[in-house]
Amino acid sequence: MPLKVSIIGGGGRVGSNAAYALQCGGIVREIALVDVNHELAEGEALDLMHGSHFAGDQKITAAHTADIADSDIVCITAGSRRKPDESRLDLINRNVSIFKAILEDLRAANLKHDAIIFVVSNPVDVLTRLAIEHLNWPAEKVLGLGTMLDTTRFCSLIAEAKNLPATQVRALMLGEHGDTMSPIWSSATVAGVSLTSILTATEQSQLAKRAAGSGAEVIRRKGGAGYAVGIAIAEVIHAIALDKRTILPVSARVSGQYGMRDVCLSLPTVLGRQGVIEAREVELWPKEVAGLQNSAKALAATWQKLNQ
Ligand SMILES: NC(=O)c1ccc[n+]([C@@H]2O[C@H](COP(=O)([O-])OP(=O)(O)OC[C@H]3O[C@@H](n4cnc5c(N)ncnc54)[C@H](O)[C@@H]3O)[C@@H](O)[C@H]2O)c1
Repeated sequence: MPLKVSIIGGGGRVGSNAAYALQCGGIVREIALVDVNHELAEGEALDLMHGSHFAGDQKITAAHTADIADSDIVCITAGSRRKPDESRLDLINRNVSIFKAILEDLRAANLKHDAIIFVVSNPVDVLTRLAIEHLNWPAEKVLGLGTMLDTTRFCSLIAEAKNLPATQVRALMLGEHGDTMSPIWSSATVAGVSLTSILTATEQSQLAKRAAGSGAEVIRRKGGAGYAVGIAIAEVIHAIALDKRTILPVSARVSGQYGMRDVCLSLPTVLGRQGVIEAREVELWPKEVAGLQNSAKALAATWQKLNQ
């Protein structure tokens, strides 16, 4: 059955761009935009609805959290960006307060027991864990966008650099959506051919570095990411809506993979209508495993600071 998706923060750049990607995808039945700035959500919903005649018969509305109890997926994109004089941890503390308030609103809204909570706001891995623990929601029904955006950036940049078709490049970023993310060259291919046989070591490190720094590059030029993150969000939602069993690098709670526990980060994860089906422990080079474990350590340290 086609799904209803509610986007909390839907008036913002990421939320509205995700709504547009979902509208163009034409797969979900209903899109509700919720934002503390309700007028902004109304404006975005109206603009999207005006395109329905050409785009499709979806219902697109602005709503309040209290009215979204019938959502199948609640996507949370609300949050603020870093101020010039602010540390990363200050931003985390600020976004955690906003996020906890949203979780309280969701608790009060009385969501369906099988609703899927999809976290996009940053720091996404920490907030994904917070959603599971604060709402006491089943871990398989909570996921974060994780390294989806980093992965599409990585593949698209490799394609551009080598004049390859972007859709045929397969190169994952895994781990934390943040400073410790790891490029996975061991399984990187284009049309089945190993990318390590096509790219020099210098090219590999330059492309991985540029992909990891792409967020900052976009922020410097236009204030914040929108289109690519919107497409990445729609990819995840469509995998769930169509019960595709697609394997995507989303953030989910790990339970022993590579010796890691009690942390949410991105591994190749099977997604279907029930949510997270399985985070896979695939074969990786030792240095890639060490990279993932380093992400887990960094995320555990941030979690500890938040709970001090
Ligand atoms: N995970 C990823 O890959 C990824 C990528 C890009 C951005 N992000 C994150 O997404 C978040 C949003 O970024 P943006 O560029 O859209 O920012 P934005 O400022 O354009 O939008 C944020 C929206 O959230 C709304 N909001 C704030 N508090 C709210 C609340 N309590 N309830 C409902 N709505 C509320 C604001 O009114 C605003 O419209 C940030 O945390 C950003 O870091 C994540």
